[in-house]
Amino acid sequence: MKIPPRLQPLAEHGFVDQVVRQLKSGKEAMVFVVICDGEVRCAKVYKDADKRGFRQSVAYTEGRKVRNSRQARAMERGSNYGRREQEAAWQHAEVDALFLLARAGVRVPKPYNFHEGVLLMELVTDADGNAAPRLENLVLTPALAREYHAGLVRQVVLMLCAGIVHGDLSEYNVLVDADGPVIIDLPQAINAASNNHAKSMLVRDVNNLTTYFAQFAPEVLQTDYGNEIWALYAAGALTPDVPLTGRFVHDERPPDVDALLQDIDAVIEEEAERARRRAAAAAESEPG
Ligand SMILES: Nc1ncnc2c1ncn2[C@@H]1O[C@H](COP(=O)(O)OP(=O)(O)O)[C@@H](O)[C@H]1O
Ligand SMILES: [Mg+2]
Repeated sequence: MKIPPRLQPLAEHGFVDQVVRQLKSGKEAMVFVVICDGEVRCAKVYKDADKRGFRQSVAYTEGRKVRNSRQARAMERGSNYGRREQEAAWQHAEVDALFLLARAGVRVPKPYNFHEGVLLMELVTDADGNAAPRLENLVLTPALAREYHAGLVRQVVLMLCAGIVHGDLSEYNVLVDADGPVIIDLPQAINAASNNHAKSMLVRDVNNLTTYFAQFAPEVLQTDYGNEIWALYAAGALTPDVPLTGRFVHDERPPDVDALLQDIDAVIEEEAERARRRAAAAAESEPG
């Protein structure tokens, strides 16, 4: 097809040789099948900020690192420059996340390049080489549903080990190729350590998957991997191959305030005792 205007700069730079067809035009991006270096790839063109929805809200961008303080101040003020910077930061977040996650062993499309608001990445394909279907379009046996559920939960663990929560994970943002699920669509990806919404987003991501797979394998509704994974992460005990049970006991007892205060008193008393001993030792070693 004729090269669309937004892909023209990439064609001029030799990043794109040919545009085969448009794959999809969603709310936030247009996706094209392109040819680069004799290989079929995928080009994701971001739409302008004002055509985008919820995912750019503060809940997602909180705690994101900006390059410098001038940029940060401008973004806070919401000036034109600030909006442009915010836009660039947003678009850049997806390619950054893809590189990071690919290195961490997460099944995501291999990223190649990001240029002029266009992300070039691997085209995820089915066995015939056509663009792979989304998870939402599959009819699964109970066994396959359980397998994909467990596999995606493990991918969520790998992502969190790399410090990232997807934030918009569901059957709409998972493609399925010959080897199983591949996770896509990450511009809203969340920094787990610095975003106060990370836990709720992680639990929601996992629950979206669980609810989807439950239509084929209802027993998965008995699991609570999201809370289990977050508890392990918060305890510093999350590793890529940590065993998971799917069970999580919500502690609904009121906190034992008296016991907590006693613990605090004990720590204070211990510290005071150490100080007394230090003072005594210092007095003894004084000359004269
Ligand atoms: N790497 C890829 N390989 C194959 N198809 C893709 C790829 N990336 C996106 N798509 C297709 O384009 C659609 C939109 O892409 P996505 O990244 O989810 O953007 P958005 O949902 O914001 O429009 C996906 O649902 C999928 O069908
Ligand atoms: Mg999407």
